[in-house]
Amino acid sequence: MFFKIFVPTLFLVIWFYLRHRILRLFILPWGLPKWSIYFFDLFLIGTGFFRYLYRDQDASYYTTSAKSLFYVGYLAMAWVAYLLITVVVYDLFRLFKRKIKKQPVEEVKIERRDFLKKGLSLVGFGAIQMTSTAAAVSSSMKINLKKQTLFHPNLPEIWDGYRIAQVSDLHLGPIIDRKYLQEVCDKLNQNDPHIYVLTGDMIDGKADVLREQLEPFRHVNAPEGKFFITGNHEYYWNVQEWVNLFSDLGYQHLLNSNAILSRENSKLLISGIPDVGGHRYHQDHKVDFKKAFQNEIATDFKILLSHRPETCELAAQQGFNLQLSGHTHGGQSIPFNWIVAMVQKYFKGTYTVDDLLLYVSTGTGFWGPPIRLGVPNEATLITLKKGPFSANTSGTFHS
Ligand SMILES: [Fe+2]
Repeated sequence: MFFKIFVPTLFLVIWFYLRHRILRLFILPWGLPKWSIYFFDLFLIGTGFFRYLYRDQDASYYTTSAKSLFYVGYLAMAWVAYLLITVVVYDLFRLFKRKIKKQPVEEVKIERRDFLKKGLSLVGFGAIQMTSTAAAVSSSMKINLKKQTLFHPNLPEIWDGYRIAQVSDLHLGPIIDRKYLQEVCDKLNQNDPHIYVLTGDMIDGKADVLREQLEPFRHVNAPEGKFFITGNHEYYWNVQEWVNLFSDLGYQHLLNSNAILSRENSKLLISGIPDVGGHRYHQDHKVDFKKAFQNEIATDFKILLSHRPETCELAAQQGFNLQLSGHTHGGQSIPFNWIVAMVQKYFKGTYTVDDLLLYVSTGTGFWGPPIRLGVPNEATLITLKKGPFSANTSGTFHS
């Protein structure tokens, strides 16, 4: 329902709002014919068409020319996103100014503007819009290693200093490719993680098309294990093919199941559940906390991998000590992060729910347009430490 009605309606509203404002702000003041707005319509339809083409990708997708087309399409999406933001901010500023001056609500007569004023406003508008787009796009391409220490009072001493490499929401596909992933893995590998965990939404595309691009995952430095759970996006592209592919890359798929890690006499449980919507695509992918938790061997510390952070409350009831998640992207970019922060209770970073510590990654890649303004991506190197929950939970970024 959400994707079939709400999203298309929202896109239509944005489209008509933008074309109305472009007419009033740029086309009419410059004396251009009204029909020139159709160029903007064509541009938007073209941008959507790139996305449609991507749905029907085949093995020829990873040619330079095809990739360039998708890249242009996604850059256009980023440009439109920041055009929308600039227009909204401009309109809010105008409304505020009117309220202060108690001016009548009708539009300022644009015909009266002189040439210089029109030129300056166009240059100013363009500069803000282009600068924000460029900043957001360049930030999305910069891969950050985030060193995150997670303190838990119940961690057995022997596990103090244990290192977990977490990759989440990579969304390898339209723009993010093997080169990007190789850099992610290199940065994590240099810090000698004990295990690798992939917490869902690794891809956006078909397994047979993207197979080669995922090869860097095969050769990661993870002497004590490599684990994988599904996010919602794996289900959009034939989940079984993706499960098979990650198994082939050497990752243990944790589907309401777990594995035991040992150090001397101490045991650590690492469990995984599928995405909470997985059962709609595959009947065996229904979340089962009990199955994920149960093991005949007694364990001293219990970690849950769950794509969506909101499962933490049930995980805490079940008795897990730590949950690692992603999914939110931390809102991905200003100003969308402010909206996501309002609707997502567990948004990014660390939270405690009873005795459970939750960590939410902002994602290692991005989804949709390549934008990451104010919300850096992260290849996360987690270090477990014994200690009170509150200490040093913000993490540090390294380029
Ligand atoms: Fe997700």
